[in-house]
Amino acid sequence: MKIGISGGTGLIGSKLTKELLDRDHEVYIFTRNKSPNRISDSNLLNYISTNSIQAKDLENLDVIFNLAGENIAGVRWTKSAKEEFYKSRVEYTKHLVDAINACKNPPSIFINASAIGYYGAYPDSNSTFKETDQPGEDYLGQLCADWESATKGILNLKTQVRIARIGIVLDTKGGALAKLIPIFKAFLGGPIGSGKQGMSWIHSQDLVNAFIFMMEPKRKNSIFNLTAPEPKSNFEFAKSLGKALNRPSFFPTPNLALDAIFGEGSIVVTQGQFVSPTNLIEEGFHFQFPDLDIALKKLLQ
Ligand SMILES: NC(=O)c1ccc[n+]([C@@H]2O[C@H](COP(=O)([O-])OP(=O)(O)OC[C@H]3O[C@@H](n4cnc5c(N)ncnc54)[C@H](OP(=O)(O)O)[C@@H]3O)[C@@H](O)[C@H]2O)c1
Repeated sequence: MKIGISGGTGLIGSKLTKELLDRDHEVYIFTRNKSPNRISDSNLLNYISTNSIQAKDLENLDVIFNLAGENIAGVRWTKSAKEEFYKSRVEYTKHLVDAINACKNPPSIFINASAIGYYGAYPDSNSTFKETDQPGEDYLGQLCADWESATKGILNLKTQVRIARIGIVLDTKGGALAKLIPIFKAFLGGPIGSGKQGMSWIHSQDLVNAFIFMMEPKRKNSIFNLTAPEPKSNFEFAKSLGKALNRPSFFPTPNLALDAIFGEGSIVVTQGQFVSPTNLIEEGFHFQFPDLDIALKKLLQ
């Protein structure tokens, strides 16, 4: 198949691209970068450098993934940063939807990223969210709700829209785990905040497998929580990470270390949510890494 990925140069996009190339798909990565670093020598991999995707770029693609979005962790959430978070997700998705609508032969599947922050973030809550639950009223909840709503502009009947509510992706190359590892290695790791907040994690390999599962035309659902079947509390997560790194995980992580590494984006670990991948399970998705200890061991080996 011919598959386009906007935001394909990022942590998730690169991993997804490699998996798609391994399965002999043709991949078109859309990037703002004029001379992107090739992540593979495969002649099935193409880069399209553009600040504004047009219908002609999408004609004859079978699937388009939209993974673009300005990084929210590790930066101060100033007014202008928040404008970039919004523009790079909501406005960017609206523009992509317009380009899809203008295609003579549009992609048959459009998969748009969202995040489990959709459900709101809580310092201490036992509720478990599934795909039918309502968005939270906090900043990230509303950002995700607007991001998802932007896909509703698809007018043609040929394109099926699917939403991926992505959990905390575990990968040593980036994201929350890569930021936590040095803290734990410096003997400063431990529970964050109350330690009771949910951490709905997913191994990066299961994430890309779930994306490929979402590409299949026969899927019944259109919204999928991409999280492992057993979300953990932050306390349990810290204990597992400490064990995997052979470090203590008893004392709370100092706020100073968190602020230095995550900035205001530390909300993604100081607060959280328990999320169930109800639709993936219902449709028979097979998780390679349902167990956190095994997932961490594999990632850190
Ligand atoms: N990683 C996670 O744990 C996680 C969890 C939940 C949701 N998500 C969401 O999943 C998506 C991909 O995540 P990721 O971890 O792969 O992110 P990432 O590594 O930061 O990559 C994001 C990509 O978005 C593009 N981008 C950044 N700023 C942009 C802007 N202002 N306008 C247009 N494109 C822009 C970049 O592409 P170019 O620079 O090449 O143009 C980059 O490749 C993001 O939207 C993120 O919010 C991630």
